[in-house]
Amino acid sequence: MRRKVTKAVFPVAGLGTRFLPATKSIPKEIMTLVDRPLIQYAIDEARAAGIREFIFVTSRGKGALEDYFDNAPELEASLREKGKTALLDILDSTNMESGAIAYVRQNRPMGLGHAVWCARRMIGDEPFAVILPDDVIAANTPCLKQMVDAYEETGGAMVAAMEVPDEQTSSYGILDVSETRGNLSRVKAMVEKPKRGTAPSNLAVIGRYILPPSVLESLSRISSGAGGEIQLTDAIAHEIVDGRPVHGLRFVGDRFDCGSKSGFLQATVAFGLRRDDLRDDLMGYLRHLMGMRNAAE
Ligand code: UTP
Repeated sequence: MRRKVTKAVFPVAGLGTRFLPATKSIPKEIMTLVDRPLIQYAIDEARAAGIREFIFVTSRGKGALEDYFDNAPELEASLREKGKTALLDILDSTNMESGAIAYVRQNRPMGLGHAVWCARRMIGDEPFAVILPDDVIAANTPCLKQMVDAYEETGGAMVAAMEVPDEQTSSYGILDVSETRGNLSRVKAMVEKPKRGTAPSNLAVIGRYILPPSVLESLSRISSGAGGEIQLTDAIAHEIVDGRPVHGLRFVGDRFDCGSKSGFLQATVAFGLRRDDLRDDLMGYLRHLMGMRNAAE
């Protein structure tokens, strides 16, 4: 039987420069979509996929993230006293069981591959998931759960993939695929940010991965030689060279790039419209704005 994926790595050590000045003192992952920080969406998705151990790769200035997942005894006591049980229930989803969450530091932002490599001792010799919290995915079946289900069949490495327009391929890792069955494609090569007009397909990799421990060995080899950023894509490409299977899963759902301002704003509107308590007000306001715009044109 295939070993279950129960550990997930959350690389959150980046500088988040696209959100300066906010990220001067607030970790990007604590920024809120409606009323929940980005990291909460990632954790909920991981839990729904069967993840039990959560490994954060952090850096200086990310203390707010650690506090977010801790109990808040004074706050909880005050809510209990006032009988605010609904709010207590909301807080409950943020409390992590002791020992389920671990933090490891990346001393310098040397890239996503390096961040994952920093977690190698905690991952050990088993398959693991990687979730980038700034890719937020709205889906009926959470994206990582879709991947874990497909992985039970394929094993090996799996990346979440989505079709992007031609003019955007140069911003992503792009898959070159050999065969496709339904939503699942076997990958024969991966190119990180191909030059315009050279992309082998429109299938872009986004921030969800299931990886075998052999990827950590590749990262160790790359880490010892590389001077610049260490790409996770390069280590996954080694899997293909070594003859191990790599698949891309075209997940069903809407992905928002919350690492960019425009993506974050779109996600805020989309998640606001999904909420029963906010939909009517927000929709009314959007209609009002559109009406004003149309009148001005
Ligand atoms: P990004 O490319 O979005 O970089 O990283 P960033 O630093 O977070 O943001 P900008 O571009 O400066 O605005 C993608 C993911 O990889 C993590 C980030 O925290 C983010 O979750 N990462 C990136 C690391 O953990 N370490 C790194 O060295 C680089």
